[in-house]
Amino acid sequence: MSVSETTQERKSKSPEDSKVEWFKAVQKGDININNGLFGGALLSWMDEVAGIAAIRHCGRTVTTAAIDNLTFKKRLVLGDLVVIEAKVTYVGNTSLEVRVDVYKEDIAKSVRYPVNRAFFTEVCIDDQGRPMRIPYDLRIETLSERADHEGAKKRIAYRKQRMKEGF
Ligand SMILES: CC(C)(COP(=O)(O)OP(=O)(O)OC[C@H]1O[C@@H](n2cnc3c(N)ncnc32)[C@H](O)[C@@H]1OP(=O)(O)O)[C@@H](O)C(=O)NCCC(=O)NCCS
Repeated sequence: MSVSETTQERKSKSPEDSKVEWFKAVQKGDININNGLFGGALLSWMDEVAGIAAIRHCGRTVTTAAIDNLTFKKRLVLGDLVVIEAKVTYVGNTSLEVRVDVYKEDIAKSVRYPVNRAFFTEVCIDDQGRPMRIPYDLRIETLSERADHEGAKKRIAYRKQRMKEGF
């Protein structure tokens, strides 16, 4: 990557521009031996939705480099309606962070219950799978977007410290 590419002014997109909302009913094939949703199935849906938000921001292909803060707080069962929301929280040089929130929706009551949240680091890649500069910066417009952005900076700093110290 040339210096001019890394210092060039970028156009910007807001988190709303690439936001994704995705729905899925839990089906028989998604259930584990404890009659709950298999965590690996949920993780794969989250990964897909995070990837879509990242692609919408970059306008290019991405690959998942890391997942932070993944916990399973609420159990999902057969027939539950799962809602997955994803939005970009931070844009670096070739990588970006996507916040993914999972809810269970009670359609009758029009209520959503939080199930889990995770932060995916996606890397924009070229046709050879090499990291490439993301063409768009992130334009922060709201207080909550600012809070997400500040959180992302802390996670990046923490990850760097973790890699340096090996814990
Ligand atoms: C992700 C991948 C393309 C990064 O390639 P790389 O040669 O390590 O790239 P770099 O070291 O130049 O890092 C590129 C960017 O990714 C970020 N990155 C790399 N590894 C990371 C990690 N483990 N966690 C968070 N960010 C990471 C870097 O910080 C950098 O971001 P920046 O340009 O915004 O500063 C490469 O490791 C890869 O292809 N991994 C496999 C991905 C995959 O198969 N995913 C599917 C899930 S199984």
